[in-house]
Amino acid sequence: MPRAVYVFDAYGTLFDVHAAVRRHAQAVGPAADRLSDLWRRKQLEYSWIRALMGHYRDFWQLTEDALDFAFAATPEADPSTRAVLLDAYRTLDVYPEVYEVLTALKAGGARLAILSNGTPKMLASAVASARLGDAIDEVISVDEIATYKTAQTVYDLVATRFRVFPDAVSFQSSNRWDVAGATAYGFRTVWINRTGQPEEYPDLKPAAVLPSLKGLLALD
Ligand code: LAC
Repeated sequence: MPRAVYVFDAYGTLFDVHAAVRRHAQAVGPAADRLSDLWRRKQLEYSWIRALMGHYRDFWQLTEDALDFAFAATPEADPSTRAVLLDAYRTLDVYPEVYEVLTALKAGGARLAILSNGTPKMLASAVASARLGDAIDEVISVDEIATYKTAQTVYDLVATRFRVFPDAVSFQSSNRWDVAGATAYGFRTVWINRTGQPEEYPDLKPAAVLPSLKGLLALD
């Protein structure tokens, strides 16, 4: 096994953040895709802004705040779907290869963790509904230090929990900005570029770029 510890971002990397709106797309209406996109963008923006100003509000609250903004900015979307969308966000779909890859890494002797902005409650529910509990050793939430990625103290939670040096950790995220934060910290990083996004952060390059988690086992 090339690395001792494999750490995964949660939202966008293991769990499909657009699954909630997709499940209720008909009820939301023709602006469903726009609503979903805005919901995610605002959720992330709020996390960065709050980390910068040192004014924490947990990720579930940010998820609600972001959805409220998205509805307000998308009058074509039906706001009566708010409750079902939030409910669906607790049990998002996992990407198709996730179970197989995580199970294989675990069987090979690696230790696995999630490192996420999500609250412990959100993450517990997502992991349980995806049946990933047996594969994942640790679910680490930023909530314990009340700030958000890309604060370097967040990535420090992994090194402290597993008592390993950063270069023993392979960190996977589909969020390029999260990969930049983890690279700055010193993890070996793999960008899971699921949607063919252009490269960013030229000074903080990932060690590898993959279209899904599938190729992870073959990396050195
Ligand atoms: C997370 C967000 C960034 O799971 O996707 O931390």
